[in-house]
Amino acid sequence: MPGGEFEVRFASGERTRCVIRAGALATLDELASEAGLSGKAALIADERLLSTRHGPALLRYADTRLGRPITRSVSEARKCLPEAEAICEVLAERGLGRDGFVVAVGGGVLTDLAGFAAAIYLRGVPWISVPTTLLAQVDAGLGGKTGANLRAGKNLAGAFHQPRAVVCDPEALSTLPPRELWSGLAEVVKCALLAPKEDAGGVTLLERCEGNLEGAAAGSPEALASLVEACMRLKGRIVATDEREGGARAFLNLGHTVGHAIEAATAYQRFTHGEAVALGLRGALRLSHSRKLLDTPSLQRALDLVARLEIGVDRRLSQGEREAVIAALAHDKKARGGKVRFVLLAGLGGPRVEEVSAEECARAVEASLS
Ligand SMILES: NC(=O)c1ccc[n+]([C@@H]2O[C@H](COP(=O)([O-])OP(=O)(O)OC[C@H]3O[C@@H](n4cnc5c(N)ncnc54)[C@H](O)[C@@H]3O)[C@@H](O)[C@H]2O)c1
Ligand SMILES: [Zn+2]
Repeated sequence: MPGGEFEVRFASGERTRCVIRAGALATLDELASEAGLSGKAALIADERLLSTRHGPALLRYADTRLGRPITRSVSEARKCLPEAEAICEVLAERGLGRDGFVVAVGGGVLTDLAGFAAAIYLRGVPWISVPTTLLAQVDAGLGGKTGANLRAGKNLAGAFHQPRAVVCDPEALSTLPPRELWSGLAEVVKCALLAPKEDAGGVTLLERCEGNLEGAAAGSPEALASLVEACMRLKGRIVATDEREGGARAFLNLGHTVGHAIEAATAYQRFTHGEAVALGLRGALRLSHSRKLLDTPSLQRALDLVARLEIGVDRRLSQGEREAVIAALAHDKKARGGKVRFVLLAGLGGPRVEEVSAEECARAVEASLS
């Protein structure tokens, strides 16, 4: 079974141990002590996850070590400051001290929120991130960005708080609805397109992705572990050099400029995040090609991979919706001092950030949606 372990070391001196291992959900106790955490702990868990077949092992862990888990029913609407406050109140009621720690188990909403509670409770207690959706394993779980939404927008409140460990169990993904799995695979494809060629010891992440995409979508733990590990190593290298998001972290936004605009223009109802990113990748790739950064065979190879992402929903947008996507990009431009920046590819594995004109934006939107 592929998988692995490695450590991400930040310039600040913080370290995050990353473990990708089948069955890890049942050994959280050992993994916490291996990460140097042995005090009182609080398990904060995604309610939906607890109702799956993974629930009993987590409840056993909580029972023997920690007392009842703090369960949260999560959604973007409930990823808010009052929820973080409610978690902190329970931590205080349970008397969690500075020698204690938080274990956050669930999708990206739960790990962002519980990580944020860990960041602010007693001005910061250690935490372990245990992401259980593919999107959270390859993206949200690692890197220390924690937070909540405000009415004015997503993720507008938060803190950087690195987890001591990120534990990914590919078997945890067996209960995910297929649409969630495909959504996570869009982020995997994004990583594959921007990963440097020398990354994965002979086999590039792009080749791994091309070889394992359908296997991973069918739930093969081997295929999933192989992709999760490679994506985490890539993200680990990026965040280690850019802990506070001033530089290379922006590369992880490949496909996201148009993707976010599509999500906003369709009121976050029609597409999952990954589906919107898959569409946005097409625009970014075509724009890279028209700027002569990406040659035709590379463009074709990348588009072929993106086309294998199953987007089950109708992606045809009405003229009004297309205009709303362009308006959302213009809104983004205003918020960023009059400039729209895209992550483009100067060759596969060669991400760079460039400013683009309004006309190019419109063309990228058309390419994403056609
Ligand atoms: N911190 C970061 O760097 C970062 C990066 C990317 C995304 N994010 C955040 O992540 C969030 C999206 O995360 P997500 O896609 O995981 O969504 P999510 O947390 O809403 O999870 C999706 C659904 O899957 C359920 N679920 C979780 N694990 C499951 C399992 N194993 N089996 C069955 N169901 C399960 C959840 O209850 C939820 O209903 C967004 O809020 C986004 O802002 C954060
Ligand atoms: Zn994303």
